[in-house]
Amino acid sequence: MDRVLKAIPKIANPNVLIGFDTADDAGVYRLSDDLALVQTVDFFTPIVDDPFTFGAIAAANSLSDVYAMGGRPISALSIVAFPADQDIDTLSEIMRGGHEKMREAGCAVLGGHSVNDPEIKFGYAVTGLIHPGQIKANAGARPGDALIFTKAVGTGVIGTALKRGIAGEAAVQTATDSMLRLNRAACETMLRFEVHGCTDVTGFGLIGHAREMALASNVTLEIEVARVPFLPGALEAAAAGAIPGGLRNNKDFASCDVENASSAHLNLLDLLYDPQTSGGLLIALPDSDAQALMTALEGAVRIGRVVPRDNKPVRIV
Ligand code: CO
Ligand code: CO
Repeated sequence: MDRVLKAIPKIANPNVLIGFDTADDAGVYRLSDDLALVQTVDFFTPIVDDPFTFGAIAAANSLSDVYAMGGRPISALSIVAFPADQDIDTLSEIMRGGHEKMREAGCAVLGGHSVNDPEIKFGYAVTGLIHPGQIKANAGARPGDALIFTKAVGTGVIGTALKRGIAGEAAVQTATDSMLRLNRAACETMLRFEVHGCTDVTGFGLIGHAREMALASNVTLEIEVARVPFLPGALEAAAAGAIPGGLRNNKDFASCDVENASSAHLNLLDLLYDPQTSGGLLIALPDSDAQALMTALEGAVRIGRVVPRDNKPVRIV
């Protein structure tokens, strides 16, 4: 995708505050001096068996990029691919789950578009509002910042274990609850602090998104693997070989930009590349504010720090 986008000529427009050239979470377009639109789109194939739950997770995941910019989602359009020969009740349940989650977020679903396709896919294009001075881009992390992460890692390996029928029920439930949880509270809490940079951890995994933040900010992100929270059952799933294709791709792509100074087990390091669905926010803010943020937001953990650019953008210790 990066290569495709690089071939597209950029059109200079002073109202494009965040465009596709910085690999940020969402685009931002200025409407006036004190108001801008945040826009993002995401859809994917089912990752859990229950259609209602899948729809709700797809909604939480689509909303996440707006929260990752510090924005407030206001409206959404659904995107549906559905097989012509499949029971339409399944689609009703997916849409019902999505609508329910959008309602919880205070985001109005205005419509959508559907196509016949052999494989179910579902998600949303989401529009949010933000003050142009409040944008939390992935560029902006500074040496001395603490790195806070707001969810646990492992939805990819647990989802793969589920597809292979080797996932424990409790692990699937905890992962599902995590994916269903909106990043709204994390967003609202971080906005009370002087946050320098923020992104959500999704398909590229913790390291992939840390790498993007490091490159955009021209710093090195140092991650303490022992502090990274993992979902219960994630390590067991990885050890049992439930490795999603995306994890391998993420590792192939990003590992050349990672210095590993830890002695952690390979399965543990692999999880740092695990593609996440509806993952947490990765926040860089002054170290002096880190404790207050963690106190204000349940589940937020300090997983590392920002240092001046070293030889690699990401260092694991
Ligand atoms: Co994102
Ligand atoms: Co995104």
